[in-house]
Amino acid sequence: MADLSTSYLGLALKNPVIVGASPLTATVDALRRCEDAGAGAVVMKSLFEEQIRAETTGLRQELENELHWHAEVFAYMEADLGMRYGPREYLQIVSEAKKHLSIPIIASINCTTPENWADFAAEVEGSGADALELNIAIMPTAFDRTAEEVESEFVRIVETARETVGLPISVKLPQHFSALPHLVLRLARAGANGLVLFNRLYQPTIDPETVTVTIGERRSASAEISTALRWTALLADRVNLDIATNTGVHTGADVARCILAGADAVQIVSAVLASGHQVIGEMTQYLDEWMERMNYETISDARGLLSQAQKPDEDLFGRCQYIKGIVGAD
Ligand SMILES: Cc1cc2nc3c(=O)[nH]c(=O)nc-3n(C[C@H](O)[C@H](O)[C@H](O)COP(=O)(O)O)c2cc1C
Repeated sequence: MADLSTSYLGLALKNPVIVGASPLTATVDALRRCEDAGAGAVVMKSLFEEQIRAETTGLRQELENELHWHAEVFAYMEADLGMRYGPREYLQIVSEAKKHLSIPIIASINCTTPENWADFAAEVEGSGADALELNIAIMPTAFDRTAEEVESEFVRIVETARETVGLPISVKLPQHFSALPHLVLRLARAGANGLVLFNRLYQPTIDPETVTVTIGERRSASAEISTALRWTALLADRVNLDIATNTGVHTGADVARCILAGADAVQIVSAVLASGHQVIGEMTQYLDEWMERMNYETISDARGLLSQAQKPDEDLFGRCQYIKGIVGAD
């Protein structure tokens, strides 16, 4: 048996497969199911900043203020949030889960500003969570807000969390930035310990027959792994942050790809939603057999072998054009 153990955010994981924030991690029973299926850790479904504010203003009002979307999208968001809990229940689930699970439990707050949630983050720490994931979801729609202003908001959110908790902090980022390496350096300086690359935001689409905005595919496809792999390979070991690769990890081979790119762990949601919890065991079994085949005794023997840090002269992940198409060479 190969040694599948890894370290992520300073936590010892028996294997690198983490079930990400989703309905799969919303209740104590659901969390136990992930552990029973062999997950290395779990990230609880996010508590939304709106839910924390809603303790006083009412959630529906908060959603209406935030979302000027088509009614169907609104209903969808509300239904997703509807399976959730208020802050008190969230804390209860964390402390209850800590009693019943032995794998690390990472709490998750979905935040769009540095305000409103700091006290709650402190309570999350008090409830026994092993780490805090900040799911920062800022949609930069304003024409008068610069990239620097938007990125500084990400940094302020991490600073606020760092001032509030002693827990390891990971930052779950959306996919699109104009200068990601510089931003992640700032996040590390602000006190982050790790990155989740990347969140997959709601994918709106348009129904041309009803002329309405609707929700597109909620689950990722395998091919979507490319962007997360690229940035894992470009950032791993070049900044002092652990990396959990996320979006498009569907098979054991995908987990191996992420490790070779430099990931410390992966997060999966769509694979479990599509194939059931047994996919977790299939992934770890593949990893074990692959490591034996390749003579890797530990995850760190394989980790980052194809990263930019270990292959500085090869620019496969930094390349963004198909050279062959332009100059007729590979
Ligand atoms: C139904 C559903 C609910 C989700 N809820 C959350 C959430 O509460 N917080 C969060 O950070 N991500 C949430 N996500 C995003 C997932 O954690 C994950 O980042 C995304 O699905 C990409 O990973 P995948 O390709 O393995 O699905 C959700 C995804 C799905 C499909």
